[in-house]
Amino acid sequence: RTARFALHPAFSVGEVNPRLFGSFVEHLGRCVYTGVFEPGHPAADEAGLRTDVLGLVRELGVTTLRYPGGNFVSNYRWEDGTGPREERPRRLDLAWRSTETNRFGLGEFMDFAGKAGAEPMLAVNLGTRGVAEALELQEYANHPGGTELSDRRVAHGAKDPYGIRLWCLGNEMDGPWQTGHKTAEEYGRLAAETARAMRQLDPDVELVACGSSNQAMPTFAAWEATVLAECYDLVDHISLHAYYEETGGDRDSFLASAVDMESFIENVVATCDHIGARLKSPKRISLSFDEWNVWYLSRYEAEAQRNPGTWEEAPRLLEDHYSVTDAVVSGSLLIALLRHADRVTVACLAQLVNVIAPILTEPGGPAWRQTTFFPFAQASRYGRGRVLTVTPTGPSHGTARHGEVPLLHATAVLDETTGAVTVFAVNRDLHRPLPLEVTLHGLAVERVAEHSVLADADPEARNTLADPERVAPHPAEGTSLAGGVLRAELEPLSWNVIRLT
Ligand code: AHR
Repeated sequence: RTARFALHPAFSVGEVNPRLFGSFVEHLGRCVYTGVFEPGHPAADEAGLRTDVLGLVRELGVTTLRYPGGNFVSNYRWEDGTGPREERPRRLDLAWRSTETNRFGLGEFMDFAGKAGAEPMLAVNLGTRGVAEALELQEYANHPGGTELSDRRVAHGAKDPYGIRLWCLGNEMDGPWQTGHKTAEEYGRLAAETARAMRQLDPDVELVACGSSNQAMPTFAAWEATVLAECYDLVDHISLHAYYEETGGDRDSFLASAVDMESFIENVVATCDHIGARLKSPKRISLSFDEWNVWYLSRYEAEAQRNPGTWEEAPRLLEDHYSVTDAVVSGSLLIALLRHADRVTVACLAQLVNVIAPILTEPGGPAWRQTTFFPFAQASRYGRGRVLTVTPTGPSHGTARHGEVPLLHATAVLDETTGAVTVFAVNRDLHRPLPLEVTLHGLAVERVAEHSVLADADPEARNTLADPERVAPHPAEGTSLAGGVLRAELEPLSWNVIRLT
């Protein structure tokens, strides 16, 4: 029952783009209000940003922040969130049936992203708006000055242009739930014309076209092909979104969620390259997995049916409290992204605070780490460098949703500056430990610096307001490196980080 693989620096997938460790701030529920922004909170800075949250975001190692949506963006007027706060309009947010006060907008977000040390990734509204408004936002944000829009930004207190490079051309435009939902032909044309215009203003912007909202969409793959046939030469990335949850008590299938994520990535790569071939283009489109997570969506949908929303300000929405099991799945999704680092160059854990998030807060109260915080923080910290090819052999088991699935899910990253190698591994077996043997070739490592494991006798354990430190990674025992072979035992249902130096 031993899982085995070999590592050799001559066999690698590709370099990890730091943007793989992005996250997402949407005007949704309490992500912004009482999440990142809460003037009057004891930990708020002079701008109203929660410094306790900022500290956790930095610890999480978030490199990129997508904003302001999400479904929210598809009826958003970016100007509403600029200028003096007391003059900003209150508006209905159709996506989440909430009232948006606009006390937080582009300037506040840029301040937050800067203090978090993250690159901004801004979405434009292609649901109810189009080319003109996207250009106006780009000019307001990025033009140095001397025009009405750029001088307006200066008058609003931002003398220097924001220099936002990465832009999403709308959000989930394939989804019938999206305000201003479009067919692939309609969206493909709009994305192409918006991209062409934005490049007229600045040829160096990086643009993300909307792909499918998930692999199960009826239009999946045809959508990507039609959209890219219109805008292949004009965009750099195509988006993927995927959320996973345990349904019907089928934990084995849930633990194998990364099987779906990896096939989704591979199918999108195939579709992009098919269009590239048809266009006889040497260019390769990269993948922006700009929404991924565990999300108990069916619970949210059932609740939304019972209570469709009453236009509250910052209601408690999508506040999933994550278990150890959820954290192991989340780690496995990170492994899936790393295993495709050659094509996935941007990824955003959706979302950052309170809303399906690794960080929870209470209004006026504390902020704390969910179980899912730990795999992300460790992957962002140690998953930098070159991903090595990992092709494991070993035991597998049958799952209802994904067929026969290996019990081990793993990847390894070589830090070329130090020579250190980090193995990230998940044991999907609910009940039994999994022995692991990794044969190392041509790698200058001598010792096991750390084997950290997230597992618990209670797979339902969570970090709560009453007990915010109940779950955290602990050191594993008995892991060894001798004669070029790493040997470890992976606890049942566990996320593991083994660092070799
Ligand atoms: O992240 C929550 C929602 O999920 C986003 O607003 C939307 O893009 C997706 O459907």
